[in-house]
Amino acid sequence: MKKLLVFALVAVMALGLAVSASAQTYKVGVSIYQFTDNFMTLYRNEIENYFKTLETDDVKFEITMADGKNDMAEQTNQIQNFITQGMDVIILNLVQTSSADAVIDQVVAAGIPLVLINREPLAYDKDGNTLDEAYEGILNNAQVCYVGADARQSGTFQGEMGAELDNKGDINGDGKVSYIMIEGDPENIDAQYRTEFSVKALKDAGIEVECLDDQVGNWDQTKGQELCANALNIYGDKVEVVFCNNDAMALGAATAIQTAGRKVGEDIYLLGVDALEEAVQLVKDGEMTGTVLNDHIGQSHAAVDVAVKLLKGEEIQNYYWVDYVKVNKAYVDAQ
Ligand code: GAL
Repeated sequence: MKKLLVFALVAVMALGLAVSASAQTYKVGVSIYQFTDNFMTLYRNEIENYFKTLETDDVKFEITMADGKNDMAEQTNQIQNFITQGMDVIILNLVQTSSADAVIDQVVAAGIPLVLINREPLAYDKDGNTLDEAYEGILNNAQVCYVGADARQSGTFQGEMGAELDNKGDINGDGKVSYIMIEGDPENIDAQYRTEFSVKALKDAGIEVECLDDQVGNWDQTKGQELCANALNIYGDKVEVVFCNNDAMALGAATAIQTAGRKVGEDIYLLGVDALEEAVQLVKDGEMTGTVLNDHIGQSHAAVDVAVKLLKGEEIQNYYWVDYVKVNKAYVDAQ
């Protein structure tokens, strides 16, 4: 009887081993342009969380998450390491979209599928200007895709939230909206489009605009605060709207606005993008006019889902788009 029990136990253990030995582990290399970026931190954490939820007894994911440190040379090394380590798929948030060609070529030559996220490479003309066109490096490769949100939509939503105000943003009633613009990384299409389309939405609503100041804050909260404080110092009450290309900079601007003794909703308006938790709270409290949800959950899940399809050898599209959502007081109150 005892012998039988021991035999049964050994058999069960052997079976367990056989099952776990048959589990397939996929190696996933992820490189993020910069770990300290607020929005990309939410995004990369959700990539890891979501991969975990997709694991089964038979399928496991081994994720290597690398910090590009906002340095293209560093990121290029990481990609070379991913290739040497034989990653089964790479998810990449480029430091510089102008390096997209070189990177795509390397990864494709190594036979590794590639999912680009967040920083959309666009076609360039011969003078290096970005063209409003899909990128051939993506279109021409069956195992390469881009997952993102169309930044034109986020800019438009920002402008529309301004135009939808009772006074359309014209606080002093002089017939025009005087604004300052705080931009993200200027090489980044999100920064370019948000800057252009927020103002375009105001103009499209028949509003006259005046740009008092346009500065680069590189997506950074401290920089956003500094630039907004400077502009308020120089232009004072003339500043009616502060547009920030993202919420990190808007959070900084909110601090500068308070410090300058100004009151959002009364003598100034403030608009951001991302819908970071802290920014949504400020919208609730009336300390920000609005933000735009940059759906890191939708985007990270779409990126992981397509990575899994690639691992399974399934066909994919070259582009996947996730919508933005306007987040103003009416929206947060209704939640
Ligand atoms: C944008 C986001 C910014 C910053 C940037 C990085 O989509 O709004 O906050 O994360 O991506 O490329």
